[in-house]
Amino acid sequence: MTSTQVAIVGAGPAGLLLGQLLAKSGITSVIIERQSPDYVLGRIRAGVLEQGTVDALGSIGVDARLHQEGLPHHGFDLLFKGERHRIDLAALTGGKQVMVYGQTEVTKDLMLAREASNLTTIYNASDVAIHDFDGDSPRVTYTLNGQAHELKARFIAGCDGFHGVCRASVPSSAIQHYEKIYPFGWLGVLADVPPVADELIYANTERGFALCSMRSKTRSRYYLQCPLSDTVEQWSDQAFWHELGNRLDPQAAQALVTGPSIEKSIAPLRSFVAEPMRFGSLMLAGDAAHIVPPTGAKGLNLAASDVMYLAQAFERYFNDKDNGGVDGYSAQALSRVWKAERFSWWFTSLMHQFPELGSFNQKVQEAELDYLVNSTAAATSLAENYVGLPL
Ligand code: APR
Ligand code: PHB
Repeated sequence: MTSTQVAIVGAGPAGLLLGQLLAKSGITSVIIERQSPDYVLGRIRAGVLEQGTVDALGSIGVDARLHQEGLPHHGFDLLFKGERHRIDLAALTGGKQVMVYGQTEVTKDLMLAREASNLTTIYNASDVAIHDFDGDSPRVTYTLNGQAHELKARFIAGCDGFHGVCRASVPSSAIQHYEKIYPFGWLGVLADVPPVADELIYANTERGFALCSMRSKTRSRYYLQCPLSDTVEQWSDQAFWHELGNRLDPQAAQALVTGPSIEKSIAPLRSFVAEPMRFGSLMLAGDAAHIVPPTGAKGLNLAASDVMYLAQAFERYFNDKDNGGVDGYSAQALSRVWKAERFSWWFTSLMHQFPELGSFNQKVQEAELDYLVNSTAAATSLAENYVGLPL
């Protein structure tokens, strides 16, 4: 049996960032991941990093490519009633910005850093199970190449995403779930075409929401609100571009460059929080504990703030013999989580069509959008949430 101080389940951005933050503090960890590295890197997710996330990556020296290839954005456009209005993030927040850099790239950079520090990550582990986390000597068991293994640790960090084993292992009497499912999905397309504009466009239209995002000056990421019953097969590239054009203002529609999609997928939208985030020696972080709808791109940033709190808690525990951080982790993380849940729910509610809510809802949305772009108070609230609330 091998042992380590922190057994991390899941090598997504949460698990990998936690591993590097712990290594910086001299705390040992082993990561156990169910999939292969290529599979983990094949998942396309959002691409907007808050300054706090950029700083966390900087603190572990994983920001060279991010600063070289990432695109700093100082604002974005809200499009409604056929017109675009700029939200000037920098002016509204005292100079803050966000960084457009894909989650896939963040994950790749973290994987390379872990490899370079010679830290153990066990990929392709099957039958991963966690045990005895109500005491001080929890264990993780798994199968690798047909052989059973056991890893002993002082803590288990459950960074294994929404469908992972960690949250599912907590007795139902000890955990409370809060959930909201939205009655539509996002159809996403990635294409090697120049972005339609220099900044992101969030569009509220009678035909449904649209988002124009990007990965670089030559790679675009676009989304359309679609019925949950739609399938990717129903959406040819041509149909996608046509519908996107229909949801943009005439100037943007004209500027839209189309091309073959290199990825196309439909994702459901969900708000979800599990409370608490700590069960004895098991700490949950990232998507294992909460999900936000993608409007506002808070998922990765919340995973990053969770593991920053968690790394500080473990540092106090192991290096200062102080339990305070571990004891306070759940309340500390949930306070930030719920604010991001509120913002993501609000931005989703503001920007999408909810046919079942009728034309009254659409009128109220338009009034709120009009208020947002004409009131510095309202725009400031949007901007400070978008760039990321303080840690
Ligand atoms: N055992 C081991 N690993 C597992 C298990 C398991 N039983 N179940 C899931 N995993 C792995 C997944 O294969 C995945 O690589 O845990 C990892 C979880 O990664 P993510 O789902 O990316 O979650 P997280 O690291 O919390 O990142 C949160 O990234 O996933 C996006 O939308 C999400 O933006 C958000 C952010
Ligand atoms: C993305 O680029 O994938 C993206 C950007 C902003 C969002 C959601 C997704 O709000």
